[in-house]
Amino acid sequence: MTSPHAPRYSRITGTGSCLPPHKLSNADMVALLAARGIETSDDWIVERTGIRNRHFVADGVNASDLALVACRDALEAAGVKADAVDLIVVATSTPDMVFPSTASILQNKLGIHGCAAFDVQAVCSGFVYALTVADAMIKTGSARCALVVGSEVFSRILNFDDRTTCVLFGDGAGAVVLQESAVPGILATDLHADGRHVGILCVPGTVSGGQVIGSPLLTMDGPAVFRLAVGVLEGAARAVLDKAGRSEADIDWLVPHQANIRIMQSTARKLKLPLEKLVATVDAHGNTSAASVPLALDVAVKQGRIQAGDTVLLEGVGGGFTWGAVLLDY
Ligand code: UT7
Repeated sequence: MTSPHAPRYSRITGTGSCLPPHKLSNADMVALLAARGIETSDDWIVERTGIRNRHFVADGVNASDLALVACRDALEAAGVKADAVDLIVVATSTPDMVFPSTASILQNKLGIHGCAAFDVQAVCSGFVYALTVADAMIKTGSARCALVVGSEVFSRILNFDDRTTCVLFGDGAGAVVLQESAVPGILATDLHADGRHVGILCVPGTVSGGQVIGSPLLTMDGPAVFRLAVGVLEGAARAVLDKAGRSEADIDWLVPHQANIRIMQSTARKLKLPLEKLVATVDAHGNTSAASVPLALDVAVKQGRIQAGDTVLLEGVGGGFTWGAVLLDY
């Protein structure tokens, strides 16, 4: 806890994650699509994306359930009891219900009541957006101990007749405990959106008059998203480095949105980072949208790769079109 006069910062004190047990390899996807008369291959998926496996939830398991496991994991790592949490921000595009928020449902499952809880909707940039909001709330004294979560059940919105999208996505959750601190953790944040591109990655349907109006399934112009993503990520990285007065050489770890290994490697190359500094877990879980950054962060922390004091660059990009970055000292 800081004194009222000391500068107030926010710092990640624990990370956690959750992948549902049902794992599907590329071979499983080949078989699943073949049953529908659609061709794909392990070679195509690995070469174009780096994905080898993804995890799908069982019937009845929702984003809040995965979030709950990830949050308990993060709270344990931080040595913090759930009742110390005074803010819950969940990034998700696959909420349990139209409303209330998945954050409210999660709060109840955590057995804590009364603290602020809300969802952030920025698709695959969601975690970077949520972390930025929680950081600002801690810095302005609105919160002291936040759970910041990305949780998704994208298997529920996939079109298994569309091989250009259904092989790419999976389910999962990642969470961090973000606490008030006298020393800086989060150094700088940078968020963007360009609504001219809403159509290139969307679930266009909605609920009206008791019916689903329009398609409730994900549609994506992959090459258009790819081009935009490789174009914007370097700028967001440079913006947070400038704001924090740091340089590329100060980055110990790049933890980008896990959609496509080619996009991640391109960003690392533009920042002149050796590929050993890139945290890539996309092979293990595919694109888990808002969950991918905290999932990858947790894996790297648990593996002992990211250590206390390391400078970490988080980057998100996705539907909206949204993108952003967070630079932090872990
Ligand atoms: O999470 C938010 C951010 N999302 C992303 O960052 C995703 C960005 N986009 C991408 O990662 C890539 O664009 C994809 C992985 C989606 C696609 O890779 P690509 O190299 O851009 O391939 P493409 O869409 O240009 O398709 C190349 C070929 C096409 O065949 P033709 O027209 O060349 O004969 C596709 O029909 O690959 C074909 N193809 C497939 N073949 C086997 C597309 N999907 C598949 C598939 N299996 N699953």
